[in-house]
Amino acid sequence: MVIIVLLLFILIASAVALVLSLNALINIFRDKVPYVSTPKWAIDWLCQHASLLLQGGVARSAGVVYDLGCGDARVLIALKKYFPDITAIGYERNWWPYILAKARIRRTGVKVYRRNFYKADLKNADIVFCFLIHSVMPKVENLLRSQLKPGATVYSYGFTFPNWQPTERIANPNNPKGSKINVYRVTERAKPATLK
Ligand SMILES: C[S@@+](CC[C@H](N)C(=O)[O-])C[C@H]1O[C@@H](n2cnc3c(N)ncnc32)[C@H](O)[C@@H]1O
Repeated sequence: MVIIVLLLFILIASAVALVLSLNALINIFRDKVPYVSTPKWAIDWLCQHASLLLQGGVARSAGVVYDLGCGDARVLIALKKYFPDITAIGYERNWWPYILAKARIRRTGVKVYRRNFYKADLKNADIVFCFLIHSVMPKVENLLRSQLKPGATVYSYGFTFPNWQPTERIANPNNPKGSKINVYRVTERAKPATLK
């Protein structure tokens, strides 16, 4: 009896592991971006510094913050805790982190949608956060520069845009050579034709 229960347990655990691995593989082929979480130091930095930006020209209560590919929504949840008046919206296409996000955002006020962020309307964004991968950055740059209003700020963890100069690159004080937060300020809305 014990052996049968043990075998059943191993079988179910293997099936779950297989489904999760297959899901990760399918998502990497489709979106080219794996699900990896932003480290704590970067989230802490954002919470401490985004306040200045939300006040700079934009009323804090009116701040709209997006996370493109929000994973389990940890960045948005942390920001919403710091700035309860912001509207925090995340888009996540991979069902596994989406389920985690939906479980974590209960009673936080953060909104998460299972949607392709390339189809998002970001014209009302004050802040956009993303942690993606090198190969998608040209397309994401076009999306942001054609939609974001002047005054908006983009924080890209780990990766830079090919044709957009960051105004700041923030390093981890404990690992200055590691991944950085790249800060971009929108000065004007680019016309799609001028984008590469
Ligand atoms: C590196 S993870 C970052 C997760 C989260 N932003 C964080 O910082 O903890 C990138 C996420 O973007 C999602 N993603 C990639 N392309 C997407 C798309 N076109 N639409 C929605 N989500 C996407 C992936 O599924 C993945 O979970």
